[in-house]
Amino acid sequence: MRGLLPVSRMTSGRGRRRSAAGEPAVATLVPMCGIVGYVGGQQAIDVVMDGLRRLEYRGYDSAGVALVEAGSLHTAKRAGKLANLDKALAHEHPVPATTGIGHTRWATHGAPNDVNAHPHTDAAGRVAVIHNGIIENFAELRVGLERRGHDLVSETDTEVVAHLLGEELSRHDGDLVAAMHGVCRDLAGAFTLVAVAAADPDRLVAARRSSPLVVGLGDGENFVASDVSAFIAHTREALELGQDQVVEVTRDSVTVTDFAGAAAEATPYHVDWDASAAEKGGYAWFMLKEIDEQPRAIADTLLGRMAADGSLQLDEMRLSDEELRVVDKVIIIACGTAFYSGLVAKYAIEHWTRLPCEVELASEFRYRDPVVDRSTLVVAISQSGETMDTLMAIRYARAQRARVLAICNTNGSTIPRESDAVIYTRAGPEIAVASTKGFLSQIVACHLLGLYLAQVRGTKYGDEVKAILDQLHRVPAQVQRVLDDADQVRVLARDLAGSTSVLFLGRHTGFPVALEGALKLKELAYLHAEGFAAGELKHGPIALVDIGVPVFVVVPPRGRDAIHAKMLSNIQEVRARGARTIVLAEEGDDEVAGHADEVIWLPRVPTLLQPLVATVPLQIFACEVATALGHDVDQPRNLAKSVTVE
Ligand code: M6R
Repeated sequence: MRGLLPVSRMTSGRGRRRSAAGEPAVATLVPMCGIVGYVGGQQAIDVVMDGLRRLEYRGYDSAGVALVEAGSLHTAKRAGKLANLDKALAHEHPVPATTGIGHTRWATHGAPNDVNAHPHTDAAGRVAVIHNGIIENFAELRVGLERRGHDLVSETDTEVVAHLLGEELSRHDGDLVAAMHGVCRDLAGAFTLVAVAAADPDRLVAARRSSPLVVGLGDGENFVASDVSAFIAHTREALELGQDQVVEVTRDSVTVTDFAGAAAEATPYHVDWDASAAEKGGYAWFMLKEIDEQPRAIADTLLGRMAADGSLQLDEMRLSDEELRVVDKVIIIACGTAFYSGLVAKYAIEHWTRLPCEVELASEFRYRDPVVDRSTLVVAISQSGETMDTLMAIRYARAQRARVLAICNTNGSTIPRESDAVIYTRAGPEIAVASTKGFLSQIVACHLLGLYLAQVRGTKYGDEVKAILDQLHRVPAQVQRVLDDADQVRVLARDLAGSTSVLFLGRHTGFPVALEGALKLKELAYLHAEGFAAGELKHGPIALVDIGVPVFVVVPPRGRDAIHAKMLSNIQEVRARGARTIVLAEEGDDEVAGHADEVIWLPRVPTLLQPLVATVPLQIFACEVATALGHDVDQPRNLAKSVTVE
């Protein structure tokens, strides 16, 4: 039985350091993954596979499950997407287990093959474990295990944990909780672990350090998962585990301890997202659904922010006005699309508050010895709240005594928990790997922060703050108009799907829009795409322009006359060299029509809000090109939704 393999029948021995496909196993594999565990009255395989389907966006290089039944563990794992595991399981006799764990993996390096897929077991098949994160001292632990006669069959750090758990189980008379405590104390690095033991069929034990893990509290059943979307169809009551905690879960009890075994507290919370938010709801792709959800995401992010007197209120803000008044510099840290939302925010924050605002890639921040002190406000933007680069940057900033404010879409995630303050975007679950509604709601939250700082520090009068808030409240309807008029973009996408290179130009807030348009096309359509500040063009990138190369140009609203005129010149420069120009411009900007091969008209909004409408056609364009090319839009190759390793 290859699909669902009783662990006792798995071979072990030195000859097994090869993948199922026969290629040599590879060096350290670092998973960044989706994790789910279940104990209850239902068939565990159904609950676990359903949870994995909802978590697959976190990684899809391989998937596996372990079920505990009648004193044995049954595992199945397959390289590739979850569908491969599903197919394998379809040929097997169902195992009537009510306790199980499942894993979907994203490998940072090394082959994602069957052997390296999770779960991993100890040699005796007494314990199975799944893992997210990196065990930094795994090499030395492995040497110790091998010296003690253990034979490891993969080269993952996770298998080391499985063998250590096996040893600890013997030492603690089969007590999986005590075994987990013992192992966690010896591990360095970041990890979420979930383990089940053959001899203990009604229990699972999980642990976390610097890696996501939430507990779902059901009625006669309980869950653990990387995020709530795995169990939201079953329960909306959840427990947020703290750092360095172990949780023992049976169908009727949840017990939290620290790594030393002492009783510990976890925080209960209610999940607001409704279950249908994590379903495709008739759309071909989650991304299309999430693009369409943007008006709602913006409206929800704005909801309840205006007090009766018209002033701005931010309920979750845990920083006092006094603390905000002494801020003398803002540094925004983020990755990918979230970083681009920070670039947009810089224009607004500096303009409204007169505070200097730097925007830095989180992965670079702590390595350049940045000037940060207690009067610096560090703003960490993250949709998932789990991005390791951003988390590490936060820890660095806090160690320098800076105040850290998170802008985040995921309640209970690590980044807001480790920050001094938070503004939640209320976009609902974002499942597609490509961020869309996350991006727009991040811009809105950043604008709210900028306005709040301006209000508290007195750099904007109350009526000015209110006027901008009024403009922001009009944006959902304006985004809806862009969505309603998107057929032109779809036709264009089919027409340009054969392009080998696409360029994007912008100035001012149009520059991050250009970067975001290019990133979307890269990650979904695997095309060469680059975004440039239009003024930089003549300093090098214009050499990329050739006959027929599509160039998207984001033209600023006419209120900014200086940059508007310059953009028209930039369009002419690329057109003169044969580019096919697709210009995004505000309605009524008749001047651009004569310069463009095609114009995508945008609703009229102030310059600082223009990214909220101008990004939408570029998201649709990338999604449609990728679809035309036959790619999996929601799960593009090599990517994962939550990047929980550095
Ligand atoms: O969850 P985060 O917002 O911290 O994620 C940051 C980036 O990994 C993310 O925006 C990534 O660039 C997206 N795939 C872009 O679509």
